Amino acid sequence: MARRKKVYEGKAKVLYEGPEPGTFVQYFKDDATAFNAEKRATIEGKGVLNNRLSEFFMTGLNSIGVPTHFIKRINMREQLIRAVEIIPLEVVVRNVAAGSLAKRLGIEEGTPLPRPIVEFYFKDDALGDPLVAEEHILAFGWATQQDLDDMVSLGLRVNDFLSGLFLGVGIKLVDFKIEIGRIWDGDYMRLIVADEISPDSCRLWDIETGQKLDKDVFRRDLGNLADAYTEVARRLGVMPQREAGPTKPTLIN
Ligand SMILES: Nc1ncnc2c1ncn2[C@@H]1O[C@H](COP(=O)(O)OP(=O)(O)OP(=O)(O)O)[C@@H](O)[C@H]1O
Ligand SMILES: [Mg+2]
Repeated sequence: MARRKKVYEGKAKVLYEGPEPGTFVQYFKDDATAFNAEKRATIEGKGVLNNRLSEFFMTGLNSIGVPTHFIKRINMREQLIRAVEIIPLEVVVRNVAAGSLAKRLGIEEGTPLPRPIVEFYFKDDALGDPLVAEEHILAFGWATQQDLDDMVSLGLRVNDFLSGLFLGVGIKLVDFKIEIGRIWDGDYMRLIVADEISPDSCRLWDIETGQKLDKDVFRRDLGNLADAYTEVARRLGVMPQREAGPTKPTLIN
């Protein structure tokens, strides 16, 4: 049986060639990394949870007209996605000061921001994904002004959707990161949400207790990461019980 071709292996996911041109299979690993991969661990069950949660968020976004790469889930760890040309920028949307923003500007973590703030970071592991201004993006040609406008608008729509969803289950969406890519319909190009949306790429705080339910649990050694993600999935009604699943990639037709 022919093994399907690996297109890319990153820190948290593997991309394989999909069954049709213009598609990939995205496999979610159990690996966790932080601080630009200086800290690493394997957290059993994380890949299964993130596959399910990303499916849940992307399906919801698709249904309200925010385009995403998600096509369908294949199994516990894999989903079929549209292949895009990733724009080399991480789009971060913040509602509350935390992480690098709190540090950089000397704002106490937990301070609500006057309005959502959209930031761009240049995707380059060797440089540690530095914060960049629109000027850099335009001057170096990473994206056009129209792309930037579309990215801000996508980021804010995703923020409104996710904030509401989490608010409904007693969770504050502090900030999150998305990646955006280009697809072509003939000559017509448009931008869609790609990569993943999961507790790996969000900051989620319990509204009542302030308990962290995201990757900061791993970054700051605050407890069991899979338990925190399971709690998020449980509240959203995504995956009531932890399920056991295949740990190896499987072939799809
Ligand atoms: N729909 C898509 N089409 C093409 N590439 C995608 C798509 N969705 C995600 N990707 C890319 O696939 C990779 C997913 O792997 P992973 O998140 O593990 O990478 P990573 O280690 O974080 O590295 P990177 O710095 O490249 O993001 C990322 O490089 C991401 O940009
Ligand atoms: Mg990544």
